[in-house]
Amino acid sequence: MKKSDNPKDSSRRKFIKEVSVGLVGAYSISPNLNAKNLPKDLKESMEGKVKLSLVVNGEKISTNIKPNTTLAEFLRDELKLTGTKLVCNQGECGSCSVLMNDEAIYSCHLLALDADASEIITVEGLLNNDELHTVQKSFIEHDGLQCGFCTPGQIISAVALLKNNPNPTDEEIKNGMSGNLCRCGAYPKIFDSVKNAIGSKI
Ligand code: FES
Ligand code: FES
Repeated sequence: MKKSDNPKDSSRRKFIKEVSVGLVGAYSISPNLNAKNLPKDLKESMEGKVKLSLVVNGEKISTNIKPNTTLAEFLRDELKLTGTKLVCNQGECGSCSVLMNDEAIYSCHLLALDADASEIITVEGLLNNDELHTVQKSFIEHDGLQCGFCTPGQIISAVALLKNNPNPTDEEIKNGMSGNLCRCGAYPKIFDSVKNAIGSKI
């Protein structure tokens, strides 16, 4: 029997033909079926994005991100919360500190995905109806800043310290703030700012 006479070959050819016609047909019926018009979730999953859900400054956020996005990048680039500063971008200076479930963490050193289901507070989230947080006020009153670049991170660490230890000793203040570097050397004034915030509502 010739190859073309084989009923199996014939039905295989028929199948391929039908599938091809089906695909062409589907494409001609739906000329808009291209990457641009795919549903957002499907398109983003094809781009390798993954789901992230968390609360930032009291707002529930559910979105898709690239898995290698750091929390700092997500906050600054996606949410435009640029109060969080990036300086070393390698977990050494503390400028990018934010509160995660009331603990200060370096947001440059954490993948946003590792913050999934957490509650994040950035320096913007410390405001209460446009009124500065008591620790922010203390930094202003006691000159706890010079250029101000490290200040959001310093303030976040001070809030974390006082939330978890409302009455710290001098040594505990120094230890609690030791993860935040200040290139201007404003340490004595930063210390005064934290110390003078003791006893106020955090
Ligand atoms: S910018 Fe994150 S620790 Fe320096
Ligand atoms: S105030 Fe300038 S780096 Fe701290």
